[in-house]
Amino acid sequence: MKPNVCVYPGSFDPVTLGHLDIIKRACAIFAEVRVAVLNNPDKTKAFSVEERIAMLEKACQNLPNVRIDSFSGLLVSYMRKTGAGIVIRGLRSAGDFETEFQMAQMNSRLNESVESLFMMTSPGYAYISSSIIKQIASFGGDISAFVPDCILPEIIERFQNR
Ligand code: COA
Repeated sequence: MKPNVCVYPGSFDPVTLGHLDIIKRACAIFAEVRVAVLNNPDKTKAFSVEERIAMLEKACQNLPNVRIDSFSGLLVSYMRKTGAGIVIRGLRSAGDFETEFQMAQMNSRLNESVESLFMMTSPGYAYISSSIIKQIASFGGDISAFVPDCILPEIIERFQNR
């Protein structure tokens, strides 16, 4: 049977319009898109996993075939545990390609039933990243063109209080 589920993993600290673009386009192809938030306690994040999940839930509330989940440890273990076989990732630049190429090859080596598929980021989002948005917010800059409207207030508030 052909797969009808894909997993879109990432840190989403926070989710951006670039991520949302990939999620929406994946929704048009797959019956179910599982957005999997990496819970990595070693990495300092601006938002907790619970906050990142809540922001994704808000941002995806009009997309009925999206499910938000979290995972820790290896992505291939999560894929095995949930029975999913397809990983979706976005590509913004040649730099992304280098990293993604290595990850895709390693994931396939660790679990040969995992297939990685890539979507070119829509041109308007190629220069966005979560870190750059956090940096702009921390200096009081306008980030409204880069993140979903529904989560804008909580991002601004987080950085106002720092
Ligand atoms: N539009 C805009 N920005 C995008 C984007 C898009 N389409 N796609 C990615 N980004 C940005 C993110 O905002 C993020 O920016 P930042 O670095 O400034 O925070 C950056 O690109 C990468 O983020 P993301 O796509 O969330 O990936 P990640 O590097 O945080 O996470 C995992 C990658 C989770 C898939 C990978 O680390 C993983 O699988 N980890 C689990 C452990 C494991 O299995 N390791 C072995 C891997 S071979």
